[in-house]
Amino acid sequence: MERALPHVARRGAIVLALANQKGGVGKTTSAVNLSVVLAAAGYRVLLIDNDPQGNATSSLGIEKQELDRTMYDVLAEGASLSGVTVETGRDRLALIPSTPALAGAEVELVNLDARESRLRSAIQQVRGDYDLILIDCPPSLGLITVNALTAADLVVVPIQCEFLALEGVGQLITTIDLVRRQLNRSLDIIGVLMTMFDGRTRLSQHVVNEVRTYFPERIFEAVIPRSVRLAEAPSYGQSIVEYDRSSRGAKAYRSVAEELLGRLDLPPNGVERRDGETDQERGEPLLVGAPQSSSEDASQEGAAS
Ligand SMILES: Nc1ncnc2c1ncn2[C@@H]1O[C@H](COP(=O)(O)OP(=O)(O)OP(=O)(O)O)[C@@H](O)[C@H]1O
Ligand SMILES: [Mg+2]
Repeated sequence: MERALPHVARRGAIVLALANQKGGVGKTTSAVNLSVVLAAAGYRVLLIDNDPQGNATSSLGIEKQELDRTMYDVLAEGASLSGVTVETGRDRLALIPSTPALAGAEVELVNLDARESRLRSAIQQVRGDYDLILIDCPPSLGLITVNALTAADLVVVPIQCEFLALEGVGQLITTIDLVRRQLNRSLDIIGVLMTMFDGRTRLSQHVVNEVRTYFPERIFEAVIPRSVRLAEAPSYGQSIVEYDRSSRGAKAYRSVAEELLGRLDLPPNGVERRDGETDQERGEPLLVGAPQSSSEDASQEGAAS
Protein backbone atom coordinates (compact mmCIF):
# COMPACT_ATOMS: atom_id res chain seq x y z
CA MET A 1 0.00 0.00 0.00
CA GLU A 2 1.41 3.38 -1.01
CA ARG A 3 2.04 5.86 1.80
CA ALA A 4 0.42 9.29 1.76
CA LEU A 5 2.33 12.07 -0.04
CA PRO A 6 4.98 13.49 2.26
CA HIS A 7 4.58 16.74 4.11
CA VAL A 8 7.47 19.01 3.22
CA ALA A 9 9.07 21.02 6.00
CA ARG A 10 11.10 24.02 4.77
CA ARG A 11 14.65 24.37 6.09
CA GLY A 12 16.26 26.38 3.36
CA ALA A 13 16.45 24.67 -0.01
CA ILE A 14 14.41 21.54 -0.69
CA VAL A 15 16.73 18.83 -2.01
CA LEU A 16 15.41 16.53 -4.75
CA ALA A 17 17.30 13.51 -6.11
CA LEU A 18 16.41 12.12 -9.54
CA ALA A 19 17.16 8.44 -9.20
CA ASN A 20 16.63 5.15 -10.98
CA GLN A 21 19.50 2.70 -11.36
CA LYS A 22 18.17 1.72 -14.77
CA GLY A 23 20.16 3.50 -17.47
CA GLY A 24 18.71 5.85 -20.06
CA VAL A 25 15.30 6.41 -18.48
CA GLY A 26 15.41 10.22 -18.59
CA LYS A 27 17.00 11.14 -15.25
CA THR A 28 19.39 13.70 -16.74
CA THR A 29 16.92 15.09 -19.28
CA SER A 30 14.42 15.60 -16.46
CA ALA A 31 16.97 17.04 -14.00
CA VAL A 32 18.25 19.56 -16.57
CA ASN A 33 14.89 20.64 -17.95
CA LEU A 34 13.18 20.89 -14.57
CA SER A 35 16.13 22.92 -13.23
CA VAL A 36 15.95 25.40 -16.11
CA VAL A 37 12.14 25.69 -15.91
CA LEU A 38 12.18 26.18 -12.12
CA ALA A 39 14.95 28.79 -12.32
CA ALA A 40 13.05 30.63 -15.07
CA ALA A 41 9.97 30.59 -12.84
CA GLY A 42 11.84 32.51 -10.17
CA TYR A 43 13.44 29.87 -7.97
CA ARG A 44 17.12 29.90 -7.05
CA VAL A 45 18.20 26.45 -8.26
CA LEU A 46 21.39 24.44 -7.85
CA LEU A 47 21.75 21.42 -10.14
CA ILE A 48 24.27 18.87 -8.88
CA ASP A 49 25.66 16.62 -11.61
CA ASN A 50 26.30 13.54 -9.49
CA ASP A 51 27.15 11.22 -12.38
CA PRO A 52 30.65 10.52 -13.77
CA GLN A 53 29.12 10.60 -17.29
CA GLY A 54 28.73 14.36 -16.75
CA ASN A 55 25.68 14.47 -19.04
CA ALA A 56 23.94 17.22 -17.07
CA THR A 57 27.11 19.32 -17.28
CA SER A 58 27.36 19.03 -21.07
CA SER A 59 23.59 19.37 -21.54
CA LEU A 60 23.84 22.86 -20.05
CA GLY A 61 26.66 23.71 -22.47
CA ILE A 62 29.46 23.67 -19.90
CA GLU A 63 32.89 22.70 -21.29
CA LYS A 64 34.34 19.95 -19.12
CA GLN A 65 37.95 20.63 -20.18
CA GLU A 66 37.79 24.07 -18.60
CA LEU A 67 36.74 22.85 -15.18
CA ASP A 68 39.19 23.14 -12.31
CA ARG A 69 37.16 21.51 -9.61
CA THR A 70 34.20 19.20 -9.88
CA MET A 71 31.91 16.89 -7.97
CA TYR A 72 34.89 14.56 -7.48
CA ASP A 73 36.50 17.16 -5.19
CA VAL A 74 33.30 17.40 -3.16
CA LEU A 75 32.83 13.67 -2.55
CA ALA A 76 36.43 12.46 -2.43
CA GLU A 77 38.30 15.52 -1.12
CA GLY A 78 35.66 17.18 1.03
CA ALA A 79 35.70 20.41 -1.04
CA SER A 80 32.86 22.86 -0.35
CA LEU A 81 30.09 23.13 -2.91
CA SER A 82 30.57 26.90 -3.07
CA GLY A 83 34.17 26.36 -4.26
CA VAL A 84 33.02 24.10 -7.10
CA THR A 85 29.89 25.94 -8.28
CA VAL A 86 29.87 27.21 -11.86
CA GLU A 87 27.49 29.73 -13.39
CA THR A 88 25.38 28.36 -16.22
CA GLY A 89 24.67 31.64 -18.01
CA ARG A 90 21.07 31.42 -16.86
CA ASP A 91 19.56 33.60 -14.15
CA ARG A 92 19.26 31.83 -10.79
CA LEU A 93 20.65 28.51 -12.08
CA ALA A 94 24.04 27.27 -10.83
CA LEU A 95 25.71 23.90 -11.44
CA ILE A 96 28.05 21.56 -9.63
CA PRO A 97 29.73 19.99 -12.66
CA SER A 98 31.02 16.49 -13.07
CA THR A 99 33.57 14.68 -15.23
CA PRO A 100 34.63 11.03 -15.54
CA ALA A 101 37.01 11.64 -12.60
CA LEU A 102 33.97 11.19 -10.35
CA ALA A 103 34.09 7.44 -11.09
CA GLY A 104 37.18 7.34 -8.87
CA ALA A 105 35.15 8.67 -5.95
CA GLU A 106 32.91 5.60 -6.03
CA VAL A 107 36.01 3.53 -5.17
CA GLU A 108 37.68 6.01 -2.81
CA LEU A 109 34.52 6.63 -0.78
CA VAL A 110 34.58 3.05 0.50
CA ASN A 111 37.51 3.86 2.79
CA LEU A 112 36.43 7.36 3.85
CA ASP A 113 34.72 8.46 7.05
CA ALA A 114 31.01 9.18 6.81
CA ARG A 115 31.14 7.78 3.30
CA GLU A 116 27.35 7.92 2.81
CA SER A 117 26.80 11.44 4.11
CA ARG A 118 29.54 13.54 2.51
CA LEU A 119 27.18 15.20 0.02
CA ARG A 120 24.64 15.80 2.76
CA SER A 121 27.27 17.65 4.86
CA ALA A 122 28.36 19.69 1.83
CA ILE A 123 24.75 20.67 1.05
CA GLN A 124 24.13 21.87 4.62
CA GLN A 125 26.61 24.70 3.98
CA VAL A 126 24.70 26.09 0.96
CA ARG A 127 21.09 25.29 1.83
CA GLY A 128 20.38 28.94 2.57
CA ASP A 129 21.62 30.07 -0.85
CA TYR A 130 19.00 28.21 -2.91
CA ASP A 131 15.30 27.40 -2.97
CA LEU A 132 15.67 24.05 -4.73
CA ILE A 133 18.62 21.70 -5.18
CA LEU A 134 18.29 18.94 -7.80
CA ILE A 135 20.70 16.00 -7.86
CA ASP A 136 21.13 13.98 -11.07
CA CYS A 137 22.13 10.41 -10.15
CA PRO A 138 24.11 7.81 -12.11
CA PRO A 139 22.54 4.53 -13.26
CA SER A 140 23.65 2.54 -10.23
CA LEU A 141 22.83 2.10 -6.57
CA GLY A 142 26.43 2.49 -5.41
CA LEU A 143 27.84 4.99 -2.92
CA ILE A 144 27.48 7.97 -5.27
CA THR A 145 23.72 7.40 -5.45
CA VAL A 146 23.54 6.59 -1.73
CA ASN A 147 25.17 9.98 -1.07
CA ALA A 148 22.40 11.63 -3.10
CA LEU A 149 19.65 9.70 -1.28
CA THR A 150 21.19 10.55 2.09
CA ALA A 151 21.35 14.24 1.15
CA ALA A 152 17.87 14.44 -0.39
CA ASP A 153 14.56 15.35 1.21
CA LEU A 154 12.67 13.72 -1.64
CA VAL A 155 13.20 11.52 -4.67
CA VAL A 156 11.79 11.89 -8.17
CA VAL A 157 11.80 8.54 -10.00
CA PRO A 158 11.78 8.80 -13.81
CA ILE A 159 10.44 5.65 -15.47
CA GLN A 160 10.62 5.03 -19.20
CA CYS A 161 7.42 3.94 -20.94
CA GLU A 162 8.77 0.65 -22.23
CA PHE A 163 8.61 -3.08 -21.69
CA LEU A 164 9.89 -4.11 -18.22
CA ALA A 165 9.67 -0.49 -17.05
CA LEU A 166 9.09 -1.52 -13.45
CA GLU A 167 11.95 -4.00 -13.42
CA GLY A 168 14.49 -2.75 -10.93
CA VAL A 169 12.08 -0.27 -9.34
CA GLY A 170 11.60 -2.72 -6.45
CA GLN A 171 15.33 -2.67 -5.84
CA LEU A 172 15.32 1.13 -5.89
CA ILE A 173 12.49 1.21 -3.33
CA THR A 174 14.42 -1.25 -1.14
CA THR A 175 17.47 1.04 -1.28
CA ILE A 176 15.35 4.11 -0.46
CA ASP A 177 13.83 2.21 2.50
CA LEU A 178 17.28 1.20 3.72
CA VAL A 179 18.61 4.76 3.49
CA ARG A 180 15.47 6.01 5.27
CA ARG A 181 15.95 3.54 8.13
CA GLN A 182 19.67 4.03 8.60
CA LEU A 183 20.66 7.46 7.33
CA ASN A 184 17.83 9.81 6.40
CA ARG A 185 14.59 9.28 8.32
CA SER A 186 12.38 11.61 6.32
CA LEU A 187 13.37 10.45 2.82
CA ASP A 188 10.38 9.83 0.57
CA ILE A 189 9.34 9.68 -3.08
CA ILE A 190 7.66 12.92 -4.20
CA GLY A 191 6.83 11.79 -7.71
CA VAL A 192 7.11 9.12 -10.37
CA LEU A 193 7.66 10.64 -13.80
CA MET A 194 6.75 8.70 -16.94
CA THR A 195 9.16 9.53 -19.76
CA MET A 196 9.43 8.84 -23.51
CA PHE A 197 5.69 8.27 -23.82
CA ASP A 198 4.77 7.31 -27.36
CA GLY A 199 1.07 7.96 -27.94
CA ARG A 200 1.07 5.79 -31.07
CA THR A 201 1.78 2.59 -29.16
CA ARG A 202 -0.49 0.68 -26.81
CA LEU A 203 2.57 -0.32 -24.82
CA SER A 204 3.17 3.24 -23.56
CA GLN A 205 -0.38 3.57 -22.22
CA HIS A 206 -0.20 0.07 -20.77
CA VAL A 207 3.01 0.91 -18.90
CA VAL A 208 1.53 4.16 -17.55
CA ASN A 209 -1.53 2.24 -16.31
CA GLU A 210 0.66 -0.40 -14.71
CA VAL A 211 2.83 2.15 -12.93
CA ARG A 212 -0.30 4.04 -11.83
CA THR A 213 -1.55 0.94 -10.01
CA TYR A 214 1.74 0.76 -8.09
CA PHE A 215 2.03 4.50 -7.41
CA PRO A 216 -1.53 5.92 -7.60
CA GLU A 217 -0.63 9.05 -5.64
CA ARG A 218 2.98 9.47 -6.68
CA ILE A 219 2.68 9.33 -10.47
CA PHE A 220 2.70 12.78 -12.12
CA GLU A 221 -0.37 13.46 -14.28
CA ALA A 222 1.85 15.01 -16.93
CA VAL A 223 3.86 12.48 -18.94
CA ILE A 224 6.93 13.35 -21.00
CA PRO A 225 6.44 12.52 -24.68
CA ARG A 226 9.09 10.80 -26.74
CA SER A 227 10.37 13.71 -28.78
CA VAL A 228 13.33 14.30 -31.07
CA ARG A 229 13.46 17.89 -29.81
CA LEU A 230 14.19 16.66 -26.29
CA ALA A 231 17.02 14.47 -27.54
CA GLU A 232 18.45 17.21 -29.78
CA ALA A 233 18.49 20.08 -27.28
CA PRO A 234 21.51 18.87 -25.23
CA SER A 235 23.74 18.79 -28.33
CA TYR A 236 23.26 22.58 -28.48
CA GLY A 237 23.95 22.93 -24.75
CA GLN A 238 20.33 23.97 -24.32
CA SER A 239 17.31 22.91 -22.33
CA ILE A 240 14.11 22.19 -24.23
CA VAL A 241 12.56 25.52 -23.20
CA GLU A 242 15.54 27.32 -24.71
CA TYR A 243 15.76 25.13 -27.82
CA ASP A 244 12.05 25.04 -28.70
CA ARG A 245 9.94 26.66 -26.01
CA SER A 246 6.61 25.73 -27.57
CA SER A 247 7.44 22.07 -28.26
CA ARG A 248 5.47 19.29 -26.61
CA GLY A 249 8.50 18.40 -24.51
CA ALA A 250 8.82 21.96 -23.20
CA LYS A 251 5.12 22.05 -22.29
CA ALA A 252 5.36 18.68 -20.59
CA TYR A 253 8.33 19.70 -18.43
CA ARG A 254 6.56 22.95 -17.49
CA SER A 255 3.51 20.92 -16.46
CA VAL A 256 5.63 18.56 -14.37
CA ALA A 257 7.35 21.53 -12.73
CA GLU A 258 3.95 22.99 -11.87
CA GLU A 259 2.76 19.70 -10.36
CA LEU A 260 6.01 19.35 -8.45
CA LEU A 261 5.71 22.86 -6.99
CA GLY A 262 2.11 22.11 -6.00
CA ARG A 263 3.22 18.98 -4.15
CA LEU A 264 5.94 21.00 -2.42
CA ASP A 265 3.41 23.68 -1.44
CA LEU A 266 5.36 26.28 -3.41
CA PRO A 267 3.78 28.93 -5.67
CA PRO A 268 4.19 28.63 -9.48
CA ASN A 269 6.14 31.87 -9.74
CA GLY A 270 8.97 31.73 -7.23
CA VAL A 271 9.12 32.37 -3.54
CA GLU A 272 8.42 35.72 -1.93
CA ARG A 273 10.38 38.63 -3.33
CA ARG A 274 13.80 38.97 -1.79
CA ASP A 275 15.15 42.34 -0.66
CA GLY A 276 15.95 44.71 -3.49
CA GLU A 277 14.86 42.28 -6.20
CA THR A 278 13.24 43.66 -9.36
CA ASP A 279 10.37 42.06 -11.27
CA GLN A 280 12.77 40.98 -14.00
CA GLU A 281 15.07 39.30 -11.50
CA ARG A 282 12.12 37.49 -10.11
CA GLY A 283 11.46 35.40 -13.21
CA GLU A 284 8.36 34.55 -15.20
CA PRO A 285 5.49 32.53 -13.81
CA LEU A 286 5.12 29.09 -15.35
CA LEU A 287 2.80 29.31 -18.33
CA VAL A 288 1.38 25.85 -18.39
CA GLY A 289 -1.07 25.00 -21.14
CA ALA A 290 -1.01 28.47 -22.70
CA PRO A 291 -1.76 28.14 -26.42
CA GLN A 292 1.43 28.65 -28.39
CA SER A 293 2.41 27.91 -31.94
CA SER A 294 5.37 25.63 -32.43
CA SER A 295 7.89 25.23 -35.18
CA GLU A 296 7.71 21.57 -34.32
CA ASP A 297 7.10 19.34 -37.29
CA ALA A 298 4.61 16.70 -36.22
CA SER A 299 5.75 14.16 -38.77
CA GLN A 300 9.34 14.55 -37.64
CA GLU A 301 8.25 14.20 -34.03
CA GLY A 302 6.31 11.10 -34.90
CA ALA A 303 9.38 9.60 -36.51
CA ALA A 304 11.30 9.79 -33.24
CA SER A 305 12.45 6.40 -32.12
N1 LIG B 1 11.37 12.24 -23.83
C1 LIG B 1 12.38 11.90 -24.60
N2 LIG B 1 12.22 11.72 -25.92
C2 LIG B 1 13.27 11.36 -26.71
N3 LIG B 1 14.50 11.15 -26.26
C3 LIG B 1 14.73 11.31 -24.95
C4 LIG B 1 13.69 11.70 -24.06
N4 LIG B 1 14.22 11.78 -22.80
C5 LIG B 1 15.51 11.44 -22.92
N5 LIG B 1 15.82 11.17 -24.20
C6 LIG B 1 17.13 10.74 -24.72
O1 LIG B 1 17.35 9.42 -24.25
C7 LIG B 1 18.69 9.26 -23.81
C8 LIG B 1 18.69 8.92 -22.32
O2 LIG B 1 18.14 10.00 -21.59
P1 LIG B 1 18.86 10.53 -20.26
O3 LIG B 1 20.29 10.75 -20.51
O4 LIG B 1 18.06 11.67 -19.76
O5 LIG B 1 18.65 9.26 -19.34
P2 LIG B 1 19.40 8.92 -17.97
O6 LIG B 1 18.44 8.15 -17.14
O7 LIG B 1 19.97 10.14 -17.39
O8 LIG B 1 20.58 7.99 -18.51
P3 LIG B 1 21.81 7.45 -17.62
O9 LIG B 1 21.23 6.36 -16.79
O10 LIG B 1 22.81 6.96 -18.62
O11 LIG B 1 22.31 8.59 -16.79
C9 LIG B 1 19.39 10.57 -24.13
O12 LIG B 1 20.01 10.45 -25.37
C10 LIG B 1 18.25 11.57 -24.20
O13 LIG B 1 18.54 12.66 -25.05
MG1 LIG C 1 21.95 10.52 -16.79
